[in-house]
Amino acid sequence: MTSDPRYDRFGWDYARFNPLEERALGWYRGHARLAAGPVLELACGTGRLLAALAGEGYEVVGLDRSAAMLRQARERLGAAATLVEGDMREFALDRQFALAIVADNSLREIETEEGILACLRSVRRHLEPEGRLLVTERRFDPARYPDGVAESPWAPAGRDPATGDDVERRVRVRLDEGQKSLRGVMTYRVVGSVNETDLPFESLVLLPEDYRRLFAEAGFASVLHVGYEERADDGVDPVLCFVCTPRNT
Ligand SMILES: C[S@@+](CC[C@H](N)C(=O)[O-])C[C@H]1O[C@@H](n2cnc3c(N)ncnc32)[C@H](O)[C@@H]1O
Repeated sequence: MTSDPRYDRFGWDYARFNPLEERALGWYRGHARLAAGPVLELACGTGRLLAALAGEGYEVVGLDRSAAMLRQARERLGAAATLVEGDMREFALDRQFALAIVADNSLREIETEEGILACLRSVRRHLEPEGRLLVTERRFDPARYPDGVAESPWAPAGRDPATGDDVERRVRVRLDEGQKSLRGVMTYRVVGSVNETDLPFESLVLLPEDYRRLFAEAGFASVLHVGYEERADDGVDPVLCFVCTPRNT
């Protein structure tokens, strides 16, 4: 399966740069309680969220296309989850779920609107009639790109489990002129070394109305909560939390 070296090679540092907040966990837990049935997480990565939900007694299934990320999930979850290597744009699990989740900017991992639509339609086929899809994404903030570019300082990534080296990481991102997409490079280097490994990535720039259009096109009604709270969009809070329900067709 084609995967992404950012996750295959360096996915072990994912949690360091993207901690799973307690209020996020609380929000997912609340929805799992309401759904009261099996949970599917797409792009489940290291299985952090699945582990929290399995710990509450829910049957959980995770799908990801990175064998390396799934290895971490397997170590964490053992037999507590079913883990599937697959592409969230097109999957067939031959069953339905009460709750599906695409968390932490994972929908934006898909580089085209066609791909996102294919994913959402696959999710819809896997949802029970009263089921729900949760999608959480960071709000795009143009102020972070005053000249169309943004660059993080070098930050310690930790000890590479494959080599034992201490490595550090920097991210550079460029916005295209129409503000429709981002192209970025994640660079890793062993601390003290000049040799760098560049890992490029691309992502669409999606505004709240773009998500809602895509959800509607895939056959979902959607409600936007912000910052893991059931309140209307203030246009500022960086975390967008969509709750999508299948529309009757
Ligand atoms: C932002 S990380 C999310 C990780 C996860 N939420 C966690 O807490 O570990 C994105 C994940 O999406 C996966 N991914 C990207 N594109 C995918 C695709 N088309 N199908 C399945 N997984 C995909 C990557 O392998 C990676 O594990």
